[in-house]
Amino acid sequence: MLRRLHHEQPESFAFTEANMKWAEGQISKYPEGRQASAIIPLLWRAQEQEGWLSQPAIEYVADLLGMAYIRALEVATFYFMFQLQPTGSVAHIQICGTTTCMICGAEDLISVCKEKIAPKAHALSADGKFSWEEVECLGACANAPMAQIGKDYYEDLTAEGLAALLDKLAAGEVPVPGPQNGRFSSEPAGGAKALSQWEESKVAHNGSVARAVEIGDTVKRIDGTEVPILTPWRDAKPAGPAETPVVEAEAKPAADKPADDTGVTKQAAPAEATAKPTPAVSAEAVAAAGEGAKPEALEGPRDGKADNLKEISGVGPKLESVLNEIGIFHFDQIASWDAAQVAWADQNLVGFKGRVSRDDWVGQAQKLASGEQTDFSKRVKDGDVYEDK
Ligand code: FES
Repeated sequence: MLRRLHHEQPESFAFTEANMKWAEGQISKYPEGRQASAIIPLLWRAQEQEGWLSQPAIEYVADLLGMAYIRALEVATFYFMFQLQPTGSVAHIQICGTTTCMICGAEDLISVCKEKIAPKAHALSADGKFSWEEVECLGACANAPMAQIGKDYYEDLTAEGLAALLDKLAAGEVPVPGPQNGRFSSEPAGGAKALSQWEESKVAHNGSVARAVEIGDTVKRIDGTEVPILTPWRDAKPAGPAETPVVEAEAKPAADKPADDTGVTKQAAPAEATAKPTPAVSAEAVAAAGEGAKPEALEGPRDGKADNLKEISGVGPKLESVLNEIGIFHFDQIASWDAAQVAWADQNLVGFKGRVSRDDWVGQAQKLASGEQTDFSKRVKDGDVYEDK
């Protein structure tokens, strides 16, 4: 199937503030120069926010990740999970048409969609509320035929049942997902032959359905405010010990003291021993520096030639331009930062607090200012890290 951008595109796209915070958390999982690895979660979030992926949304995500637009377009057009045309304002209905569902009545479900939504897949209904498509096996074959509506599965469907579901959704209701024929889960139609406590229990729904009902976002667009968007690796604040228990030290035994003989800890221990370089400005000193002090600025690069600050791991093209804007052009400027200046940079310069000290900009800059190279600076010089748009 040819997958192209829709002929009508909105003017622009931007993440909501909460989704932007979430996106920054995703990006911070990856080392500088590898932010493109976050392309799929960010495109997916853009789709969750808008219902589909517009060209401005794809380009917006590409800009966030420092990628050429064509690279992001390649990803968006390759994966069928990305909708390249507007979807129904209420719900996009995905009917499984693969073997099990097909022999159990998927074609009848598709007929309902053609009749009640639009004759062709991916077209909007007359009121703009719905769209539909046929998809490959969704892995719920034991409950065929089934459909994914929004984020949840509706199983054991009949044509009449699907029509009724669409009517309810159009009326603003969100029917309970899961089996629609009274089955609890995927037990035999005549009742469970094993795990029969299901039938004896008073539990209303199976685990998946119970969770879907609890979250309640089956057909909701995601703006980032409805789910916990904390990204613990970057949002955790150094609160009291009861609030932020330090688990890392317990998770990895000392190098000479494996916790068991599985071999896992024997591998983990030496990795930990070599993982962290000694920072030029210690994290303790940075923390003690509080809000910090703004580093001294130059009016312009000396002799009109700035250093390539992107040779510092942690400084990408965007951060380099931010640094230049505040008068930082040379390695030796960063190399001279004290704890207070690192603390200021951590707080104010980068979207990802803690990056300056985490990536030891000062230590790297000291090496580069003295003419040494780091592994990262060599890769930048070789053109392995950044590409031209
Ligand atoms: Fe429809 Fe597998 S065949 S879910």
